[in-house]
Amino acid sequence: MAWLLPRRCYLKVCSQTSRGPFLSSIVRAWSGGPLTAYMPEAVSFPGSKNHQGLYRMSVEQVDTFWGTLGRNRLTWISPFHSVQDCNLEQGWVAWFLGGQLNVAVNCLDRHVHRAPNKVALIWEKDEPGKEVQITYRELLELTCRLGNTLKRQGVKKGDRVTIYMPPCPLAVASMLACARIGAIHMLVFAGFSAEALADRIQDAQSETVITVNQGLRGGRVTELKQTVDQAVKWCPKVKRVLVSMRTEQKVPMSDLDVPLDEEIMKEDVCCEPVAMDSEDLLFLLYTSGSTGKPKGLVHSQAGYLLYAALTHKYVFDYHDGDVFGCVADIGWITGHSYVVYGPLCNGGTTVLFESTPLYPDPGRYWETVERLRINQFYGAPTAIRLLLRYGDKWVKKYDRSSLKILGSVGEPINTEAWEWYFNVVGEARCPVVDTWWQTETGGICISPRPSDPGDEIRPGLAMRPFFGISPCLLDDKGNVLTENDVSGALCISQAWPGMARTIYNDHKRFLFMFLTATGFFFTGDGVYRTSEGYYQLTGRLDDVINISGHRLGTAEVEDAVNQHAAVAESAVIGYPHNIKGEGVYVFLVLKKGIYISRETLTADLQELISKKIAKYAAPEYVQITSRLPKTRSGKIMRRVLKKIVENKAHQLGDLTTLEDYEAVQKIIEEHKCLL
Ligand code: WT7
Repeated sequence: MAWLLPRRCYLKVCSQTSRGPFLSSIVRAWSGGPLTAYMPEAVSFPGSKNHQGLYRMSVEQVDTFWGTLGRNRLTWISPFHSVQDCNLEQGWVAWFLGGQLNVAVNCLDRHVHRAPNKVALIWEKDEPGKEVQITYRELLELTCRLGNTLKRQGVKKGDRVTIYMPPCPLAVASMLACARIGAIHMLVFAGFSAEALADRIQDAQSETVITVNQGLRGGRVTELKQTVDQAVKWCPKVKRVLVSMRTEQKVPMSDLDVPLDEEIMKEDVCCEPVAMDSEDLLFLLYTSGSTGKPKGLVHSQAGYLLYAALTHKYVFDYHDGDVFGCVADIGWITGHSYVVYGPLCNGGTTVLFESTPLYPDPGRYWETVERLRINQFYGAPTAIRLLLRYGDKWVKKYDRSSLKILGSVGEPINTEAWEWYFNVVGEARCPVVDTWWQTETGGICISPRPSDPGDEIRPGLAMRPFFGISPCLLDDKGNVLTENDVSGALCISQAWPGMARTIYNDHKRFLFMFLTATGFFFTGDGVYRTSEGYYQLTGRLDDVINISGHRLGTAEVEDAVNQHAAVAESAVIGYPHNIKGEGVYVFLVLKKGIYISRETLTADLQELISKKIAKYAAPEYVQITSRLPKTRSGKIMRRVLKKIVENKAHQLGDLTTLEDYEAVQKIIEEHKCLL
């Protein structure tokens, strides 16, 4: 069965749909007023022409600002009666109350009505030069067929559907099919191990998994179906696994498995969208926190969609006809908001990048930019740092004149990388937008806004808050720092439409983690506010490390390390890494009477962690020591270990609570030998 429906089928289907009652009835029933109403240009706020004016309105006249945008940019089945009802202190966040809509209709049907043959997705397959274009009409049809397949398989409104797939049109259609029938999707990055996948399936109590036979990345095959088979063994509640064929390779199919491509072809191209309340769940996405267990953040329908669409439009100055190229994997929040929901809600053309920056050579990104005429390119500093090492020739070889804006996300971008991105890639004419946000925030929160002509951009600064975001800095005693030229913990004092609503099945943890007693949303990041009031992110304040823009809890890695038979206890630290931003460094103490060489143990742990979490989490350094530095009450002093791996052993800070200074001295000496 072909991976994508052959063109001939689409044409047949299209002629049916355009004659039949399907599209016209949906568009009549669901799009309400004139379609221009949601076009960005149709909304203006008198007297607030520049970003500053609009920004002030967005945080001071919340109901007017967001109510106008909610009405104009989204298509409603029934209108909302209140713009918002939020109380961060009580952990209560609700936007567009009383309203009903369908996210898939907002991302597809209304654009099909206006421009059915406009390209929605460009699937940049792993093999260069083999891109596939999918129009809005085709994507709608694929989504409807998938929605019907899911329903036939027994998936109902509110059910959680796991999507374990690389970036591909079927993955996007799966997300939208869930949205269409009211199911809640949960993507798991296709680089995660069977155990990590199983943990997430179980936590979400998901009965349905969608996957592919094999993945293809950087010319290498990954056995995704095999990983799912393994995971499903630990998840007795899974009732069905829908398998599509990304490659020709047949895979063993069990009773649970459903051949997805064949099933899709049997289904009707009409699938009625379900009317969803604004605050119904749209998706879960798991991310690491400072405890061992990843948390399933919950995003809801209307607020999330509006926020993703607005940030996409204004941060990237996206205009109709532009080709938007975000190279993130759809398994991360960046893929959700800026490959799928933001661009599609805006009726844009979005690139689905399946490959890697080095395949087949370090020119891949820029060759893709030239071939697809990408206008906005959005990537991660880690890739920029990596490509910079290969020199300018790989960039200059290709025509980048289509580029207008360059975006950066996932971690702080160092000055060298920023300058190379700006001067070499963007030929010093494309603004670089360093965008700060998190899985929890749903969309970009702090970033320059190049569509505002008065905006200024400085290297390495995320600059200023987006509409609706009120940053606030706390000192280590929890006092609010109101002045400029200060550093503190970054919090957000007011609710905004795109923020996560809770942690799945664990609202208490949500309250505890994010909404501290102050009633502020606590981000876990440190920030410096310059004398002009601009924001510069300085890194995590908690036990979360950032590897190539991927978040990893040190406690998660410690859990895995401690499962090794030789290990008594361990402490995992992020250390500065030239390319990845941070790497994993493990300190450990062996069980009494055990001898194992450091090389063997390192190899063992690399394998163990790849198996338990993912390959990117595997440690680079393992240091065996006899005692870990602890406080008198027995807590490991990771802060001290962090200074050691940062080679700042001369600045260990306050050691009054340290129980055993000799242990620290010994670790410093051993560390020197290891490097
Ligand atoms: C953490 C969120 C946001 C999508 C990708 C990662 C770090 C993110 C920046 C930036 C400095 C950044 C923060 C944040 N981060 N963007 N522009 N400058 N740090 O999403 O996995 O939820 O991770 O990534 O530490 O808290 P995530």
